[in-house]
Amino acid sequence: MNTNPQIFKPEYTPEVQRITEPVYERLRDIIPDIEWAVHAPYIAAINKLKVEMNAVLLVHNYQTPEIFHGVADFVGDSLALARKATEVDAEVIVQCGVHFMAETTKILNPDKTVLIPDLQAGCSLAASITAEDVRGMRDRNPGIPVVSYVNTTAEVKAETDICCTSANAVEVVESLGTDKVIFTPDGYLARYVAANTDVNLIYWEGACEVHERFTGEELRDYRKNYPGIHVIAHPECPPDVLEEADFVGSTSGMIKHVGEVRPRQIIMITECSMSDNVAVEYPDVEFIRPCNLCPYMKTITLPKILDALRNKAYRVEIDPEIAARARGSVERMLEIGR
Ligand code: 13P
Ligand code: SF4
Repeated sequence: MNTNPQIFKPEYTPEVQRITEPVYERLRDIIPDIEWAVHAPYIAAINKLKVEMNAVLLVHNYQTPEIFHGVADFVGDSLALARKATEVDAEVIVQCGVHFMAETTKILNPDKTVLIPDLQAGCSLAASITAEDVRGMRDRNPGIPVVSYVNTTAEVKAETDICCTSANAVEVVESLGTDKVIFTPDGYLARYVAANTDVNLIYWEGACEVHERFTGEELRDYRKNYPGIHVIAHPECPPDVLEEADFVGSTSGMIKHVGEVRPRQIIMITECSMSDNVAVEYPDVEFIRPCNLCPYMKTITLPKILDALRNKAYRVEIDPEIAARARGSVERMLEIGR
């Protein structure tokens, strides 16, 4: 593994300015001129290099606007990115998201080079449970199938019957046809699923460190300060937050909802960058932005993406036996809704 990638700093030239102008036209309301001069050379260099290398960039909805709008080949929530990972024809896939997403891509593409620009791009949910913990839950609840959120390591996926994302969790739980299911690792997503199904859930108490910080009281204050505001939230939030929301959905579900409803004012109860990314598409909607940053998502930057391509680092590798078992649980999920 290359742990010391070469640093390369491209320059802001008139040619770079010309090439990147169409992207900047869309982003000028959210990125100041002075900042654009820093981003633009990287955007031009990444877009050139990825074509030369036959590489594609899968970009999660929480990435910063210069990544999301500047260099992505595909954007989406975890489910959409996992599906896209099965369809891409490139030799190299760069995952601009967090490590569990890159692992899911590698699980589905064992013969491709899958890169993550920073190995520190973790996730508090994925870190909250181990394969041994899952085996323990199975031992304590014999015969009960295990559903794991994709926000888990490959080792945990390998101990899982079927994965789910926030976009399909209820559907996946109900697909098993049992009256009880073990659900890991997000305790709040589990409560949301339990409130929307008759299936009984035995769940793990992991949490997303970004979404668990929101409170119902905070949302009630927003409603007081912005009368008539539309409130939408991610199901990783605590139940008192979801009770205050007009809509609950995955990151892509929330984006779609904005397009359908086109409220005058909206607050998205999720990671900050999403509002910036969506605001670009809907200038008629005013976004009130609570700012809870995901520190792991934010480890991915344009310079690190360029280094990842130039150095083909950091490669995501998974033990083949674990990957094969994990693939079963991811593929069973992808079959649902196909
Ligand atoms: P989505 O699948 O909704 O994109 O969520 C992923 C995630 O990590 C949310 O915190
Ligand atoms: Fe994990 Fe939460 Fe960050 Fe999503 S927002 S990657 S769940 S820590």
